[in-house]
Amino acid sequence: MKEYYENPDVVADYSDARFLVKRPRTHRRESGIVDHFFRMIGWVDRVLDIPCGAGRFQKQLLRNAGALLEMDYSHAMTRKSRENFQKDRENDPARARFSVGSILDIPCADKRSDVVFSMRLYHHFPHIEDRVNILRELKRAGRKWIILSFYNFWSYQHMRRLMKNARSHRQSRRYAITLRQFYREVEEAGLRVRCFRSNARFFSEQTIALLEIPD
Ligand SMILES: C[S@@+](CC[C@H](N)C(=O)[O-])C[C@H]1O[C@@H](n2cnc3c(N)ncnc32)[C@H](O)[C@@H]1O
Repeated sequence: MKEYYENPDVVADYSDARFLVKRPRTHRRESGIVDHFFRMIGWVDRVLDIPCGAGRFQKQLLRNAGALLEMDYSHAMTRKSRENFQKDRENDPARARFSVGSILDIPCADKRSDVVFSMRLYHHFPHIEDRVNILRELKRAGRKWIILSFYNFWSYQHMRRLMKNARSHRQSRRYAITLRQFYREVEEAGLRVRCFRSNARFFSEQTIALLEIPD
């Protein structure tokens, strides 16, 4: 998977096309949910965005936080996120940092960020142990909140994917889980689900949760 995310064509697609041109409605829905969660959270000093990808959410996160740390395990994605930030002359360079690192072992001090933001990665991990480890890492890096997306098993999109894969005898690289399973994993990591929203209820597998880190 790492090679894939270092590929310049893939990076360019994430930066300029995938969500902004090909799936603008998906991007609008996700941004709407993120705004809704930040209205609940309020202004924060610092957000860690992991994986940042090409920086799709950086502008929105900077509307809600004083400082932003953009992190991804792909060097190429992290570079692109920085380039996209620098392209916008309105951005204050003092407010954002860019760094390479894995969500399985986040290179940062404990409780460094008020909010840890993790969009579109959790569903790439098939094993429960890895997912719970990710949650524990996000909890360690965060101080108060985690915004995390996952794929809901009981959705039209997921059923359609299962049927398509069965017909083509293909194994998908995306793994959906039930809400009950998600709650179990969150509890095992010592976190609390504050609320969650789907991109489109019953239809979309993409679901975004607001998790609370207990004191
Ligand atoms: C689907 S993209 C999502 C990017 C961004 N969050 C967004 O929603 O546009 C997945 C990203 O996860 C990164 N990634 C994959 N495995 C990772 C890991 N173990 N640690 C950190 N980043 C990872 C990839 O390099 C890629 O940029």
